[in-house]
Amino acid sequence: MQLFIDTANLKEIEEFCHCPYVKGVTTNPSLIAKEGRSQEEAIRTIAQLIDGPISAEVTATDLDGMLLQAEKLHAIKPENIVVKLPMTAAGLEACRLLADRRIPTNVTLCFSLSQALLAFESKATYVSPFLGRLDDNGWDSARLIEEIVRVKRNYGYPTKIICASIRSVQHVETCALLGADIATVPYKVLTKLLSHPLTESGLLSFAKDAEKTRNV
Ligand code: E4P
Repeated sequence: MQLFIDTANLKEIEEFCHCPYVKGVTTNPSLIAKEGRSQEEAIRTIAQLIDGPISAEVTATDLDGMLLQAEKLHAIKPENIVVKLPMTAAGLEACRLLADRRIPTNVTLCFSLSQALLAFESKATYVSPFLGRLDDNGWDSARLIEEIVRVKRNYGYPTKIICASIRSVQHVETCALLGADIATVPYKVLTKLLSHPLTESGLLSFAKDAEKTRNV
């Protein structure tokens, strides 16, 4: 399973963009607003930092507006920009039209199997089910991921499943166990994936023992 970083913070992206296991970035209008930048300027800067897929979300709610923004965002760096579209009738229509124009898409705010199915059928490149927000509201996110993966496999849909709204290391592990394609992970969870107390204590004792044999 691939890992993306879910942020619009440049320092966070800089820290992870050269590590061997982070392959892309996802953003949304709220993450960009938190950084105090304009949507387009933020995407331009991120595109200079990383070479993998970068999801950039449209803010228009009507089909024509979405298509216009999609073309503009995609033109920033055609080899990397993925246009993020909302899970609405207009968003899915835009998704299908952009597929015909060979512009990659990520249908976001997916909270049910039926919504994922519509994204598959609308030729989405990616679909983003939101785990944390489901769990926060009393639904079972693991069950949804399991079902979406099953339907994708049943019919051989090429759409990639990006698990989003990740809150914990356990979420990441669950997504991998269930066969998701990608997890997009916030900085504070990404930094925890590598550490384990036994790795830390093991390293300390190896270092101590290595010191003992230094002059042998
Ligand atoms: C996905 O692409 C979204 O940016 C993101 O994962 C939203 O997560 P949140 O529920 O933490 O806002």
